[in-house]
Amino acid sequence: MQTGRGNWNSRLGFILAAAGSAIGLGNIWRFPYTAGENGGGAFVLLYLVFVFLIGVPVLLAELSMGRASERSAVGAFKKLVPDTWWPAVGGLGVITGFGILSFYAVIAGWTLQYVYLTLTGTFSGEVTPESSGAIFGAVSSSGPGAIFLTGLFLLLTMLVVRGGISGGIERAAKILMPVFLVVLVALVARSLTMEGAAEGVRFLFDPDFSKLSAGAVVSALGQALFSLSIGMGAMITYGSYLPKNVNLPTSAFIVALFDTGIALIGGLIIFPALFSVGAAPNGGPGLVFVIMPTIFSAMGGAGQLFGIAFYVLLAVAALTSTISLLEVIVTYFVDEQKWSREKATWVLGGICFLIAIPSALSQGAWAPLSPGSGFPGGDFLSLANIIFGNYCLSIGAIFICLFVGWKWGVKSAVAEMSRNGALPAAGFWSFMVRFVCPLAVLLVLIYAAWTGNYL
Ligand code: PHE
Repeated sequence: MQTGRGNWNSRLGFILAAAGSAIGLGNIWRFPYTAGENGGGAFVLLYLVFVFLIGVPVLLAELSMGRASERSAVGAFKKLVPDTWWPAVGGLGVITGFGILSFYAVIAGWTLQYVYLTLTGTFSGEVTPESSGAIFGAVSSSGPGAIFLTGLFLLLTMLVVRGGISGGIERAAKILMPVFLVVLVALVARSLTMEGAAEGVRFLFDPDFSKLSAGAVVSALGQALFSLSIGMGAMITYGSYLPKNVNLPTSAFIVALFDTGIALIGGLIIFPALFSVGAAPNGGPGLVFVIMPTIFSAMGGAGQLFGIAFYVLLAVAALTSTISLLEVIVTYFVDEQKWSREKATWVLGGICFLIAIPSALSQGAWAPLSPGSGFPGGDFLSLANIIFGNYCLSIGAIFICLFVGWKWGVKSAVAEMSRNGALPAAGFWSFMVRFVCPLAVLLVLIYAAWTGNYL
């Protein structure tokens, strides 16, 4: 157990941990399924624009708030400008953390089940989208199964968070993230050489703007924020553990590049294979789980090994993300409510488990929450994904920009970022954070509300 507040041990350790937070189910599960539901190319292009024009500036804003204050998502606002209502923005972040964790842990639980399925050779023979879909249906619609897997995944998360910053999180991220990248690249190679793969590449990169609904614009923005883990204080929290001698802008840029690269790699694994086996791109939250086994099956003998490696590493990538989500909540209760890390981890992790139960039951186990019931957003899990993963993050991002841009002040933030060399284009960054980012996010939200296209 760690005593005191702790710090990351090195720049590499921080980059891997922040990248570990950013890279997760958002890249491999959420990005492909959202791109698939929103028509592909145009959505992807818009997502990339949002990542670099809004995401990176906000990421820098969060990290500098965290490092300057060395406080939690709530405490940072308090410390930087005392006696205002702004810490409420951090409070929204803590709530968003609970909300995201509540559905994220369900999907993460599925990855554990798929580790087991590949280990036992479930996908070793011929796999079609239908046979794979039937297996996925059985996994996701089992109520007790889904609750158990969700709980198991949260338990793993709690065990690491309990160990504190450098002890648990950093060590795990350091070893496993690079291995994940190697396996993913091998899977891209296989998917791209499947028959008819080119159509998948076209779907992903050939923008057709006529398919771009207002809902797709919100989703692209939400995806950019979600994937970078910004808009709820996760990066404030991680920045608060960042040593002063680490170059902040470079680290942030590396994290954004890795995160985006892996999302595109995720797309390049899923869509070529998807078109090759003749599945539909708008398969919803189960998309990745249904398509991946068809790739492993196309790999012949080595397929099982790749399957095992893929799901183990996806589970680890998800774990480094759930850790950061729980860490936002735990750091807040440790810093502001003076709980012990031990108590905060078990109590708050336990609450996450309870609020995850409706999502766990919403993929077929309990009809009123499940697809086909007319539930808003499709089903309970998808609704939670949209509300917390798109809207709460967007609102959080607006207020973080306003706080850094106008309240704490861009000068102080730039000074924090320039500790180890001047921030390149500091004037541009300041302009983006004060005007462009908050306005752009607001416009996207208004556009969605205006057209009634918000779920
Ligand atoms: N970025 C993570 C992913 O892509 C999810 C996440 C969102 C983590 C917000 C922390 C905060 O999987």
